[in-house]
Parts: sequence; structure tokens; C-alpha cells
Amino acid sequence: MCGIIGYCGHRPAVPVCMEGLKRLEYRGYDSAGVAFVRQGEIAVIKAPGKLSALEEALEHAGNVMNATTALAHTRWATHGAPTTGNAHPHLDAGRSIAMVHNGIIENFAELKQELLAEGLTFESDTDTEVLTKLVGWCRARTGSMREALSMALSRAEGAYAVVLLCKDRPGRLWAARKQSPLVLGLGVGENFLASDVPAFLPYTREVVFIDDGEMVIIDADRHEILDAATLAPREKTPQTITWDVQAAQKGGYKHFMLKEIFEQPKVIRDCLAGRIDHASGAVRLPEIEALPVPGRLVIVACGTSSYAGLWGKQIIEKLARVPVDVCIASEFRYADPILAPGDQVLVVSQSGETADTLAGLRLARERGVPVIGLCNVVGSSVDREADFVLHTQAGPEISVASTKAMCSQMVMLLLLALRYADAKGLLSREDRAACIEGVQAMPKLLDDHLPFMRDTAQRLARTYSEATSFLYLGRGPAWPLALEGALKLKEISYIHAEGYPAGEMKHGPIALIDPKFPTFAIALADELFGKVKSNLIEVQARGGRIIALTNPGLDLEVDHPWVLPQVFWPLAGFTALPALQLFAYEIADYLGKDVDQPRNLAKSVTVE
Ligand code: F6R
Repeated sequence: MCGIIGYCGHRPAVPVCMEGLKRLEYRGYDSAGVAFVRQGEIAVIKAPGKLSALEEALEHAGNVMNATTALAHTRWATHGAPTTGNAHPHLDAGRSIAMVHNGIIENFAELKQELLAEGLTFESDTDTEVLTKLVGWCRARTGSMREALSMALSRAEGAYAVVLLCKDRPGRLWAARKQSPLVLGLGVGENFLASDVPAFLPYTREVVFIDDGEMVIIDADRHEILDAATLAPREKTPQTITWDVQAAQKGGYKHFMLKEIFEQPKVIRDCLAGRIDHASGAVRLPEIEALPVPGRLVIVACGTSSYAGLWGKQIIEKLARVPVDVCIASEFRYADPILAPGDQVLVVSQSGETADTLAGLRLARERGVPVIGLCNVVGSSVDREADFVLHTQAGPEISVASTKAMCSQMVMLLLLALRYADAKGLLSREDRAACIEGVQAMPKLLDDHLPFMRDTAQRLARTYSEATSFLYLGRGPAWPLALEGALKLKEISYIHAEGYPAGEMKHGPIALIDPKFPTFAIALADELFGKVKSNLIEVQARGGRIIALTNPGLDLEVDHPWVLPQVFWPLAGFTALPALQLFAYEIADYLGKDVDQPRNLAKSVTVE
């Protein structure tokens, strides 16, 4: 989720780019940098931390006002810590090309080896520096920037939006995209490239959304769009943006939460990037290669992250037969937990800063147990303090209620389950292929279904918005999702909700059921469907109304069946999760609640 801006025009380009970066701040960042040509050389100024740090660095950087072309970047680290060295822009070996990048180059390690063999050296840990040096290497062979970029990109696997500056043509920028956003802004005597419209909205509303596989070249008064592979020209009609800056930051969605729910297909894609070996289909988790399959995995987390952990327990135990305990971090830290040789602790945290989770991490380390951090924020405390780290690639989550982070944690937990199952030789070829092909197909499936899910959620929200209490039920891997559905509803709509294992309902909560106390059930096509159905009949017998997430062809008669596409059982959570999130979102929005910033809640709970 890095932020990119490039400018060619008549204004001092560095301040234009700095203002653009500020309007991209909502995307989150941990370092920033800018590049432009000064006296025939590329000047690069970078700083870790807030944009004010970069502004301060620019004050001491001599004359930055003459350049009328520049590019700039805010980085959300995916490879390497948030340091000045890892910040963008990066330079090629001849220091004649500067590049900024948003995305993940999956085969960067392989490309780096090739370039090292050519005698090139590297100053950072980033995939971006590798791609920049590859472009430089290609330029030395082709002579032309467009051919060099095309040649380098033909070798790059993964996702990217890149913008490049070359000291030989100081008034020009080159850019390309594949699976990361890039938009061209067309002004009068000035043109812009950015990862998002708000970056240049004060200057122009005429935009062209660049598609995958396209290259763009801009000067102050002209632009070219090309096929990045063949370099054939492409004609595209500009569109006029009518949103204001705030709406544009939300990508046209009413709230960040809704935007983040709709980002989940991309999150799954990003989490999978580079993780599946194309030839063998094996799961790649090099970060924990040194660790054996644990005798027992102890997951420590809070809130939504702990529900992802509970879901992971079901999947890991079933696929890989590794025992998993899930501990709420605030309990774990004071419980004097029994940790035995062979145990490993997995700390799950979006922010990487949750106080209880961190205390759990430190306790486990004190006890000498290997600690793996599964976290979203590179450079966070969990990232720095865990012995081993797996990053979830959710990008910055702005809405206080967590959505896409849970999805990203589930992808990584599934990969962990597959890795353990492979190591123990437990998975049949068919099941393995069904899991891997299924999760790879999930982004497209969700892209296709999310708009329909939202329509259903909207209709149901109106019907059920008067309820003051909800019961969420599920069994097996659907039980943690029931907990999450209930948490989302209470957090943002302030409607009381309880998640329960469906079979446990008769041991207490059934006393509450009446026509005013609705049940939201997860009754998908798995081996427990019949059991869940029986529980729902018990609810109906007491006059309770039911919404049920279910699959086509299942024999289930409830007030509101919500039919989701059927997928292989370990993947069903990826379809149920957005439905639960959208239902909570639509009720909260219908009731006029402050969806993105619910009362009494903080995004990162750094106190006990
Ligand atoms: C719920 C929510 C919280 C967090 C919890 C842990 O929507 O956001 O329950 O999941 O505070 O936060 P992290 O994952 O940052 O440790």
C-alpha cells in the first residue's frame, strides 16, 4: 500500500510531490522519499518516519525548487525494515535511473542472484532496488528507457506500479502497472502519475486509469500509453472525477471499512504472492524454514486476531494433525503457561503493538520457546521482537474494526497448515490441489460475488435493524467466524451479539430465544451441516428468526437463507467472512453509526 506520485510540468515539482504524498498519507507509511534531477545528477532525499522528517531533510538538501519534474513515494514496508536505506526512490547501478514502486516482486531473490552474478551490488533489502538495477542493466543493453523497462518487467513476477526518472531526460517520467494501482492525471502543461487520485486532485480531475500490462510516458505537455510488452500504442479516453479529496481517499466508498472489505480479494492475492512454488505446488515460507513442525503450536492474540487464530487451529489440526492451543493474550500473560520443549508460540497481531500480545510474546521468549510473529506492520514491536516473522500483506487498515487483516491472517494460517501437512506427508494430492487451486481462485470468486453480497447485506440490515440482540452460531471452523460476526456487529452498531458454538446453544443461550432475538447462523456444506441444521430447528421451535449463510442445494428452511458459492471446506471461511462483515457494516450504516471510528475503541490497544 505504498503511495506514489510523479509530476512533469511547470511548477516546482518537489513541493507538488510533497503535497501529493500528504494527500496519500491515509494509505499508511513508515518512510518516504523524493527524487529529481539537479545539475545533471539525480538527487534522492529520503527519511524514515513521518513526512515531516522528509520535509526537514529537504530543508537541508540545498536547492530543491528548480526541478519541474520529480517523483516521490511513501513506503509501507513489505521487504526489509522501515529505514532510510530501504526507503524509495532507489537508484540503478549507474545512478542514472531512479524508481519508486508499489507492490511485491515475487522473484526478486532470483533476479538479485542473477544481478549479483553480473557483478552488481545492493545497498538495501528491497525488491524495488533489484527491479531498479534490472532496468539499469537492461538500459545498458537496449539504449532506450521504454525498451529497458519493458524488458525488465518481462522478467518480474508479482505486482507492481512503478514510476521512473532518468537523468538523461530530466523532464520525462516512465511508469507501468500490473496488479497495483496507477492513475494518470492530465493537466494543462502538466501531467501526473499516482497510485491514487487524491494525490493530484487539486490540480486536475481529468484522469486515465492505467490497466495491467500498460506503460505510460509523460512529459509536461504530452503523454503516451503503450502496451508494456509490445510497446504498441494504446488509445484511452480520460474520465472526469467528481469526488472530493476525502471521498477519493476512500476510493469512492462511503467508509474505509467498506473499502477494506472490498479489498480482500487483493489481500488474498498479495498474501499468496511468491508463496506457492509454480513447479511443485509446495508452499514457500522461507522465514520459518529453520523451524521444525512444532509438537504443539500455541497461538497468542487478542480480539479479531484471536478469532483468526481459532479458525487456524481448526484448519491446522485437521489438515496437519498438529495440536494447537489458542490463548487470549491478556490471560496467557498472567497464566504462568505451561510451555514444553517442541512447543512454538505464534503471536498474531495486525498492528504488532497490542500491549497484551506483546507481553505474551516476551513471556514466551523468556521461557525459551521459539516465537513466530504473524503481523501486518513491518517495523512494529512484534516484527522486531519475534524470533521469526511472517508478514500478512493486508496493507494499512484504517477502519478501527478489523476486516481485511483477519482475511490476511487466515491466508497465512492456511499456508502454515499446508506446510505442516506437507512436511508430515499427510495431505492427499487431491486435497492439496483443491486447497491451493481454491485459494488461488478465491480473489476472482470474491471479486465477482462481493457486490451481490453487499446487496443482500443491505436488504437484511433493513429487516433486522430493530433487533437489540443477536446470536451467532457455527460449528467447526465456522464457530470462530460466528465469534467474529458477533464482534463486528457489536463493535460498530452497538447491538449486543454473542457468538456461540451451535451445539452449545442448548446449554444456556436457548433460554433467550424468542421472535425478537434473531440468530445469524453459518450452515455451510460440510460434515457438520446436519448438526447445525438440527440446532436451527431448535431455534425455530422457540419462534426465533434465522439468517443463515448456506450453500446451493442444501436442505435448509430458514427465514433468510443467504446462499454463498460452495468451495472446498477449508476455504469456506473466506466466503463467509465478508458476508458477516458486510452485514455488520450495513446495519451500522443504516443506523447512522460512526462506522470507521466506533465509540470507545482504538485501532491499536497499546495499554493493558
Ligand atoms: C476488532 C479489532 C480488535 C483487534 C485487537 C487486536 O475489529 O480490531 O479486536 O483485532 O485489538 O489487534 P491486533 O491484531 O492489532 O493485535
